[in-house]
Amino acid sequence: MRILVTGGAGFIGSALVRRLIQHTDHQVLVFDKLTYAGVLSSLELAAASNRYSFVQADICDAEAVSKALSDFQPQVIAHLAAESHVDRSIDGPGAFVQTNLVGTFVMLNQALGYWRGLSDADKAAFRFHHISTDEVFGSLGEEGFFTETTPYDPRSPYSASKAGSDHLVRAWGHTYGLPVLVTNCSNNYGPYHFPEKLIPLIIIRALNGEPLPVYGDGSNVRDWLFVEDHAAALQAVFEKGAPGQTYNVGGNAERRNIDVVRTICAILDRHRPHTDGRSYAEQIAFVTDRPGHDQRYAIDASKIRAELGWTPSVTFEQGIEATVVWFLENEAWWRDILDQRYATERLGHG
Ligand code: NAD
Ligand code: DAU
Repeated sequence: MRILVTGGAGFIGSALVRRLIQHTDHQVLVFDKLTYAGVLSSLELAAASNRYSFVQADICDAEAVSKALSDFQPQVIAHLAAESHVDRSIDGPGAFVQTNLVGTFVMLNQALGYWRGLSDADKAAFRFHHISTDEVFGSLGEEGFFTETTPYDPRSPYSASKAGSDHLVRAWGHTYGLPVLVTNCSNNYGPYHFPEKLIPLIIIRALNGEPLPVYGDGSNVRDWLFVEDHAAALQAVFEKGAPGQTYNVGGNAERRNIDVVRTICAILDRHRPHTDGRSYAEQIAFVTDRPGHDQRYAIDASKIRAELGWTPSVTFEQGIEATVVWFLENEAWWRDILDQRYATERLGHG
């Protein structure tokens, strides 16, 4: 298949592209603007392949999208390009409205024009797969899980822009017959994770001897999924999912933030012990909470398991150990980002 991946230079997009190049025969075109979050070195393993190509462009640029579609003739569009960081959406929501809403509209409209020009067989095989988040469902109390039918209740500028983009995608499916798929996934973590997010930020700041900022009292819960398992889920959905369907994707690994941070510290204590016997946990610092901070997310992933046979391949304990080790072994990758783009300072004060 020919698969156009928007946002392929980002954290999850690059994991998907590496997987497709390393484990399938598919052709991949990455379409990415290379914002602060687009990191070409995350694609080095894929870029050596003659099944890989790259276009640097904005999804809001209709002409560039149209040209990429007619040149590459994709059977699948995996649409991951987005502004993805909640804290940045609090500081500057405009870019989230522009890329996540307007950009998704442009992608849909150009995809529709392209799809209408295909043969009937190619039309039937085409998929527009929109990659979204569990944050569109709002915040849970102590009980319960998000299912595919949970009503939308987005509460941050980021999640509101993603919710709007999900609605646009379903509208293009319902009104124009475009064969769309939507996945709503929980928090990812793993190799090549941009240092603004909790897990890489804690690993890096711990290694740099800096305070480890835990928002509020650290009791907020996230459902963690290893990024390579998310990439496997995405492949299962665009290869086998039924058009018009939504699939929730999650790791069945709920953890309080404070427990995630303590786990990272314990792993570092084993792999990179302080010479004076101190624990990295002594660097933990509780700081002012994120404005509007959602309390708990948890995904019921039984639909994708039952219908497509996908389950996570690693536990949180296996995945977080592998992730910490990856950051220890790939310091050049993240040092470069710290030097040139983002040095782990606090974002999202409101
Ligand atoms: P990321 O921020 O790491 O990467 C985003 C990528 O999109 C970057 O390569 C960036 O250059 C590109 N991009 C941004 N604006 C663009 C534009 N206007 N035109 C073209 N390219 C543009 O994001 P991520 O964490 O890899 O998330 C990917 C997708 O998955 C997003 O849609 C996000 O909402 C969704 N998602 C993320 C998570 C998570 O835990 N990270 C969980 C569920 C869903
Ligand atoms: O649930 C899926 C979402 O997960 C994705 O849609 C988003 O793109 C992704 O960024 C992520 O959103 P979160 O806001 O949950 O992730 P973040 O890593 O920013 O924060 C995780 C939790 O840790 C959250 O409760 C806030 C807290 N936190 C975060 C940072 C950066 C801290 O306590 N300290 C920090 O320094």
